[in-house]
Amino acid sequence: MNLLPSGICFYLSVAICWLTSRVDGSWWYMGTLGSQVMCDNIPGLINKQRQLCRQHPKVMQAIGAGIKDWIGECQHQFQNHRWNCNTMARDHNLFGRLLLRSSREAAFVYAISSAGVVHTLTRACSQGELQSCSCDPTKKGSSRDAKGTFDWGGCSDHVEHAMRFSQSFIDAKERKERDARALMNLHNNRAGRKAVKRFMSLECKCHGVSGSCSVRTCWLALADFRRTGDHLRRRYNGAVQVAMNQYGTGFTTAQRHFKRPSKNDLVYFEDSPDYCIRDQESGSVGTGGRVCNRTSRAVDSCEVMCCGRGYDTTRVSRTTKCECKFHWCCAVHCRDCNQEMDVHTCKAQT
Ligand SMILES: *[C@@H]1O[C@H](CO)[C@@H](O)[C@H](O)[C@H]1NC(C)=O
Repeated sequence: MNLLPSGICFYLSVAICWLTSRVDGSWWYMGTLGSQVMCDNIPGLINKQRQLCRQHPKVMQAIGAGIKDWIGECQHQFQNHRWNCNTMARDHNLFGRLLLRSSREAAFVYAISSAGVVHTLTRACSQGELQSCSCDPTKKGSSRDAKGTFDWGGCSDHVEHAMRFSQSFIDAKERKERDARALMNLHNNRAGRKAVKRFMSLECKCHGVSGSCSVRTCWLALADFRRTGDHLRRRYNGAVQVAMNQYGTGFTTAQRHFKRPSKNDLVYFEDSPDYCIRDQESGSVGTGGRVCNRTSRAVDSCEVMCCGRGYDTTRVSRTTKCECKFHWCCAVHCRDCNQEMDVHTCKAQT
């Protein structure tokens, strides 16, 4: 599945998206031209980013290859919602104008993309794909946890290295701007990076007489990216609406009774559009043509998804396995059955 059409750029960190299109397009060609030429031709990079790109072309390539993973996670988290983290095929910018807004959805995209970069880089380091990093070199010798002492062994994921790199690369642009939007983006970028580190856990292997576990070898491992996605999704639900303080140096809550945002919270300035109709300005593609669920009473119901415009129903036939029988021993034989089912899709606005 290729989510990314070629020839697109990404406002958030232009380089990254451009590089992705290289990965499935002419990246290899560019690669042979050398990183100097490649990095000089990425539109929208600021000097600091261009420098990092030249110094670490392989890292850039790894980041580019990981984009489909975090976009996939974003789309998983919002699959039943009006806004479904859709990317825009023919726009020069992956998320259209969404990221020019300062909505809750933009906050989520910034956070999950930063998290995704950290996750991708950490994995690439552990797998020995990059020269500039490897397993966490500080995790050696012995240490202890609640269960007693253990020896460091295997490969501990070096998440701090990836966090530092992604911070210097992705945040570089926002650090240059230093306006309200930049502060918001920096905050959400950091919340995203922290959400990856949060789910590192100690994994151990037992040694000793018949698995007595008297000797343990342990390493720190990243969790599956789904954990980070679920976490950021909860942060999206609880995102805090903020305003700039009077000095322009930080946030105050938009309304007095709102809670103050912590470093782990997502923050946003602007109320979201309802995403019902196509609207270029707000980065909404509308829900026309989206599949809805007629019996659901949640956000994927036809009422909510179609915003009261109604839906079309089409009958489709699907092949499923049926009448499965177990044969001794050991096989299961099924028949292919055709099942007719109704699919409901939202009417487009007229
Ligand atoms: C539609 O929603 C109902 C109720 O939430 C659920 O049981 C059913 O599995 C859903 N159908 C589909 C096709 O997702």
